[in-house]
Amino acid sequence: MAAKTLIPALFLCLLSSTSILSHSYKIYHKKKPCKELVFYFHDIRYKGDNKNNATAVIVGAPEWGNKTAFSQPFNFGDLVVFDDPITLDNNLHSPPVGRAQGSYVYDQKSITFSCWLSFAFVLNSTEHKGSLSFAGADPILDKTRDISVIGGTGDFFMARGIATLTTDAYVVDYCFRLRVDIKLYECWK
Ligand SMILES: *[C@@H]1O[C@H](CO)[C@@H](O)[C@H](O)[C@H]1NC(C)=O
Ligand SMILES: *[C@@H]1O[C@H](CO)[C@@H](O)[C@H](O)[C@H]1NC(C)=O
Ligand SMILES: *[C@@H]1O[C@H](CO)[C@@H](O)[C@H](O)[C@H]1NC(C)=O
Repeated sequence: MAAKTLIPALFLCLLSSTSILSHSYKIYHKKKPCKELVFYFHDIRYKGDNKNNATAVIVGAPEWGNKTAFSQPFNFGDLVVFDDPITLDNNLHSPPVGRAQGSYVYDQKSITFSCWLSFAFVLNSTEHKGSLSFAGADPILDKTRDISVIGGTGDFFMARGIATLTTDAYVVDYCFRLRVDIKLYECWK
């Protein structure tokens, strides 16, 4: 008798919990970004003779490498610190609206290149004041890569979302320009 009532009760319970789950899942997918922003940032790596204009430096390398050339294979083990200008278009010489500051570490030893990226956009223009923090895996040869926007301050207080990175220009082992398409899904301001 007890077992007979228990089984349908369990079934009902399971049913209602799946409907709660699918309900919130649907809401999640209906979400639209609360803010969309596009920036570019420009990274020029120090390679031994350009201290004047370098914005990125290798600060750590494996025993078999050094700080002026990337290590082989796949730059594996190199840690780069950067302080790159951010612009609204893809011109290095446009007035910067802030700095992209942080690091990337090459963390894949075989098959292809990949980085762990962690940095902040520190924005100080008439339009935006505050910071956005980013983190995520960056398989650099993929056409686009998504990383997380994990938080923000100032105009971006408590923001969260996704940033899609596209390599807009590239000179092997020297400099690159990334386009960053930011979609925030949580905005408090
Ligand atoms: C950086 O400066 C070096 C000379 O120190 C120059 O050869 C190079 O073209 C400059 N790079 C960029 C991207 O402006
Ligand atoms: C760094 O390593 C590269 C090759 O991996 C080599 O060509 C270069 O001379 C090295 N530079 C220094 C300063 O040791
Ligand atoms: C932000 O910009 C203002 C006005 O240009 C300047 O006075 C201030 O020092 C800047 N702050 C930072 C942190 O760069």
